[in-house]
Amino acid sequence: TGFITFDPGFKNTGIVKSSISFIDGEKGILLYRGYPVEQIIKKCSFIETSYLLLNGELPNTEQLNFFSEKIKEFNSINHKIYQILDKFPVFYHPMGILSSLTCILTAFTDYINIKEEDMFLHLLAKLPVLAALTYRKKVGLPPSYADKDLYYTSNLLKMFFSIPKKCYQINPIITDALDKLLILHADHEQNCSTTTVRLLGSAYVGLFSSISSGISALWGRLHGGANQAVIEMLENIIKSGGNINKWVDKAKDKKDPFRLMGFGHRIYKNFDPRAKIVKKIAEKIICELGIHDPILELAKKLEKIAIQDPYFIEKKLYPNIDFYSGIIYQAIGIPKDMFTVMFALGRLPGWMAHWKEMRLNQEPIGRPRQIYIGYKKRNI
Ligand code: CMC
Repeated sequence: TGFITFDPGFKNTGIVKSSISFIDGEKGILLYRGYPVEQIIKKCSFIETSYLLLNGELPNTEQLNFFSEKIKEFNSINHKIYQILDKFPVFYHPMGILSSLTCILTAFTDYINIKEEDMFLHLLAKLPVLAALTYRKKVGLPPSYADKDLYYTSNLLKMFFSIPKKCYQINPIITDALDKLLILHADHEQNCSTTTVRLLGSAYVGLFSSISSGISALWGRLHGGANQAVIEMLENIIKSGGNINKWVDKAKDKKDPFRLMGFGHRIYKNFDPRAKIVKKIAEKIICELGIHDPILELAKKLEKIAIQDPYFIEKKLYPNIDFYSGIIYQAIGIPKDMFTVMFALGRLPGWMAHWKEMRLNQEPIGRPRQIYIGYKKRNI
């Protein structure tokens, strides 16, 4: 069987050759297909970014129009999915519902007549519909339908928040903030959910089921679920009297399992470049919408204290993308347990680009080894 390298958590194992995104964790750099994320945020929409990740290059006007129109063409779902959604208990976590419904899409897909290339567009079109339905069931609103006249993110917001018989007003401040947030989440090389998607795909699991597993992986508190955990932590700090130092000490105490949520990263040993942008978007939206948010003030104070603390300096722990994103979602009106669903909507193009790359590379089935530490052969 040869020599087996023991590397728990794949901390030092490269498992693929990829040309989708690049991270320099020491310098705090993130590139999508070679372009710095800071430039993409300024010059591209989420749909252009999705095209870039999936196809390798930014689209020209004609390609972008074709891509956007196709997505609009595919944004309805089978009526039986509405009935299935109805059967979930109201208290079930939205990430569980989204993951299940994404997998269920497989049952209503005409694989024979859909080109593989179109499958990506089907999912880009349908995941926002599933997310909006999940939200509306949670808050007791009737299902909504896509508006083909609107840009992707405006349509997403309308599907979430429109109220029957009332005209829905698009707020460009909110659309812009959400579009940027989706872009910042769009890809991040071999994180837990992306590797999950690739691993499933390597066994020839179909696209929708692979993405469904990616959504489940993202749900975890150490991964995408951290955005919900951050706001819960900040609320708990306020409820318990606002003593930030006490919570920082708790995070440093090795006997206490508590960690400062939204802090630390496997790759970034410097500021997460996404976190810097998310903080600015949070400050902008709170100011432009005229909201007084004590949580934002608290988060800024916590960041200041933590990054000056010798423990966090020594371990190179900085705020990550999840630290400020929940503040933006809350300003938009998205409930806490829907935060990670928004992350999933952003990460979708990245997951699909990796699934596609894995297939094009004809990668072998993912199959790590183990170091067996159980009994030697014994008799009953
Ligand atoms: N608070 C306190 N201590 C921490 C934290 C934290 N947030 N993060 C890491 N540490 C400590 C950890 O205890 C360990 O200490 P020691 O060397 O004494 O044992 C050291 O720093 C290294 O941590 P690790 O857990 O070995 O590092 P990792 O690369 O396996 O984990 C992480 C990375 C992101 C899971 C971790 O930093 C963490 O749990 N952060 C909080 C959850 C979070 O914010 N997750 C979102 C990640 S970014 C977006 C995403 O992936 O979705």
